Amino acid sequence: MPVSRRGSGSIVLPSGVTMAIHTRTHDEEDLPHATKKTMADHLRKYESLFTLTPQRMRMIVDAFRETLELGLAKPKQTVPMIPTFVFGWPNGQEVGDLLAVDLGGTNLRVCLVTLQGEGKFEITQTKYRLTEEQKQEDGQKLFDFCAECLKTFVETHLADEASGLKLQPGEKLPLGFTFSYPCSQERIDHGELIRWTKGFGAANTEGQDVAEMFRKSLAKYDLPVELTALINDTTGTLIASHYVNPKTKIAVIFGTGCNAAYMENVGAIPKIKNLGIDDDASMAINCEWGAFDSFEHEHLPRTKYDVIVDESSNKPGEQAFEKLISGRYLGEILRLVICELIDEGVLFLGQNTYKLEVPYVLDTAFLSLMESDPTDELLMIIGIFTHFFAVETTLAERQFFRALAKLIGRRAARLSACGIAAIVSKMDYLEEGCLVGADGSLYNKYPGFADRVHEGLVDIFGDKGRNIVTHHAEDGSGVGSAIIAAMTKTRKAAGLYANV
Ligand code: BGC
Repeated sequence: MPVSRRGSGSIVLPSGVTMAIHTRTHDEEDLPHATKKTMADHLRKYESLFTLTPQRMRMIVDAFRETLELGLAKPKQTVPMIPTFVFGWPNGQEVGDLLAVDLGGTNLRVCLVTLQGEGKFEITQTKYRLTEEQKQEDGQKLFDFCAECLKTFVETHLADEASGLKLQPGEKLPLGFTFSYPCSQERIDHGELIRWTKGFGAANTEGQDVAEMFRKSLAKYDLPVELTALINDTTGTLIASHYVNPKTKIAVIFGTGCNAAYMENVGAIPKIKNLGIDDDASMAINCEWGAFDSFEHEHLPRTKYDVIVDESSNKPGEQAFEKLISGRYLGEILRLVICELIDEGVLFLGQNTYKLEVPYVLDTAFLSLMESDPTDELLMIIGIFTHFFAVETTLAERQFFRALAKLIGRRAARLSACGIAAIVSKMDYLEEGCLVGADGSLYNKYPGFADRVHEGLVDIFGDKGRNIVTHHAEDGSGVGSAIIAAMTKTRKAAGLYANV
């Protein structure tokens, strides 16, 4: 008789619900499972596919740096290096009540931010979940929804004496609109959507000025607000993190999407020479680095699973760097490896695996859970596979899944280090060192992600890589957006580059 063991425990699911598990494990018993030896053999193959050597990383950094320079030199490059018209750092004295609307990859957030000066602020916010239909329907409808939510929010706060929000007749509140998709900007309150990313596909929006579309929706709902600035989440993160910690020079988002922003000297942005802005002025650049190596696929080490993710996405060829790193894709990469081994008859022979065959069912949050499973039996992984995919696993298989998650997560972090290193080397920040404000679900929730980024920076730069330190950023899409709206109001009132 096969020996079966019992395991029990609980796991917290991505939805926040705690699930109790009481499971028997049948090691190499009733079902024809893969043995420890075969799993170890397979793992070796994936190790060589997903591992990035320091030498390879340095080659990526060099190519990345050249790409950043090209984007600053010429318009319409693959990595567009977008001038944001956010001039320099906040001085910490920005004050007042400002609104922020943040249209992210998963949620819509409406915030009232009270800036109190000296790096202090208060924030009140409401979140709304976006449906898949809203992401794909007509763009104007999506902006109408944003305006409708903002209206409810503003009315609730105006009616509530304690909220402190008051308006004089005819007064309009400045609004920062955080729209985290690549938009080329001619002014701070303008932005033409270059392309949707992160699985969005709302019609009649690409190529349009989304600030103008949102203004139309705001007028429709008769809102007492003025859209002062259109902001990317990375730019907001850069400014908000610097507001509270002035050593911050770079900001990165590792969430559903992946991107970075940093402060550049206007003299180093040849493509905006014609605007007559002082060469010594500083301006934040939204890199849109998720597009690095798109279309050409010359520099990044793509496996066949990455190619499948790309080709079956709604934007084949695009966001090549993002597709190897961001939370939207990591779970899918793991799922594709598992499916290959199912097809080869290595995994789950004799079990019904249809639940695993659905694209994107394996959320990246599962990889985080797998990597953080503290039990010897890997009970969390048992729970995931039995509860969500109705398949039984052996310990050898679970160890293999965990090792695979680690390879995929580690590769993402090391590639992220390459992007950061490219900006650091371009801006010559290595000697003096700098802080990198980082935000997003991967950075905040994936166990060991930050450590792996730091380890990658040391592999690239040697010991000096320790001078570059990431830290959890302030809420860029809310607070950052509000600070930028306040900075813009002050700048324009002072007549400084008032036309942009
Ligand atoms: C978008 C960027 C954004 C990033 C993080 C990417 O898909 O193109 O604009 O900053 O996601 O949210």
